[in-house]
Amino acid sequence: MAPTETNKPAPPRHIAIIMDGNGRWAKQRGLPRTAGHAAGAESFRRIANYCRTLGVEYLTVYAFSTENWKRSADEVAGIMRLLRRYLEEALQDMEKNKVCFRFFGDLSKLSPELQKLCRDAESRSTDYDVQVNFCLNYGGRDEIVQAARRFAQDVAAGNRQPEELTEEILSDYLYSAGVPDPELIIRPSGEKRTSNFLLWQSAYSEYVFMNVLWPDFSPSDLDEAIAEYHRRNRRFGGT
Ligand code: IPE
Ligand code: IPE
Ligand code: MG
Repeated sequence: MAPTETNKPAPPRHIAIIMDGNGRWAKQRGLPRTAGHAAGAESFRRIANYCRTLGVEYLTVYAFSTENWKRSADEVAGIMRLLRRYLEEALQDMEKNKVCFRFFGDLSKLSPELQKLCRDAESRSTDYDVQVNFCLNYGGRDEIVQAARRFAQDVAAGNRQPEELTEEILSDYLYSAGVPDPELIIRPSGEKRTSNFLLWQSAYSEYVFMNVLWPDFSPSDLDEAIAEYHRRNRRFGGT
């Protein structure tokens, strides 16, 4: 691995994060859950910036799952409001922050304003260092179902043969088409589960579970997760 200036090994090309623990962070402080989500958005800004300085090429973040609609209407509305605000600001700062955006998930269930912001962010081409894949109304199972559905439609239309289907071709029907699988998936907050995140893409990802809550997650926590990743022995089924 090419050493960086500080003599640390190069970071993974693609890091994915389950941004969890906002509610508990707020509870600890006697604040409403939405205050935790606002603090989580700040944490995301900080970490996205840090990833850019480290030279990470892809950062995929789980912001809202297909299951998160089960929460109270108030909490969902608060999260949607914060997402709108974040994207409005991000659109202004894309050039400065050298970031580009892609959205993974079924955006059709989001408000028209939010859908437009996502489309605007995705279509704005800018000179960028890091690609942020924002998972919004995202579910790993849902992603595979929509890929299977679109493949079946292509077969029905006569553009594909069923026996043509390979892992590579199915990958091209996923939201993550063209993006390499994440080498490292980090879940803060102490939970040790995937909660329906990147089910297909994580086949050989290294998971690092950490006890810090997402709003408290700092650049040094990211350093620690990357250091742990470098201590792992990745075998991919070999010896
Ligand atoms: C993650 O934090 C944010 C979303 C799922 C939208 P949580 O809101 O799940 O925080 P905890 O797990 O309740 O602490
Ligand atoms: C996963 O966290 C989804 C996001 C962080 C967006 P959850 O808080 O929804 O997951 P569970 O309910 O603890 O499994
Ligand atoms: Mg949670």
